[in-house]
Amino acid sequence: MYSRIAMSLLALVLTASWSLAQSSGNHQNGERIFKQHCVGCHGTSGDGLGPDIKELIVPPANFQAPKSRTKTDMELYLAIKQGVLFSPMHGWADRLSDQEIREVLRYIRSLAPFNPLG
Ligand code: HEC
Repeated sequence: MYSRIAMSLLALVLTASWSLAQSSGNHQNGERIFKQHCVGCHGTSGDGLGPDIKELIVPPANFQAPKSRTKTDMELYLAIKQGVLFSPMHGWADRLSDQEIREVLRYIRSLAPFNPLG
């Protein structure tokens, strides 16, 4: 009996903290992070044409292209957190918190919304 109450309380707390994480994202913060760390490669509009790309062997992702827009938030989230293998895109887990990664991801998606049809 008590354990059932405890379980539903736990579920409630988990749902509440998840939706808090979803809504507390600060759009301006995402923009600030993007301009500080990502714009040099990915460009202001996320088209992959930033000013620092001349020496890169692998060009940065163009977030506007179907290749990126068809990817889920989770795929992009993991690319930011862990990096992309064999590319100059290293993981940011040591520099950005989970919250910051989510904020910068939300900013990217505001520049180039998810579009499963490409
Ligand atoms: C040194 C240049 C560079 C910087 C700085 C950089 N990226 Fe990247 N990024 C890349 C490259 C190169 C790729 C891989 C492109 C590929 O796989 O074809 C990539 C891929 C990605 C992807 C995956 C896109 C996809 O369609 O799979 C995401 C998301 C991403 N970067 C976000 C970021 C964010 C957010 C930042 C800043 C915190 C950042 N990048 C900083 C070069 C960079």
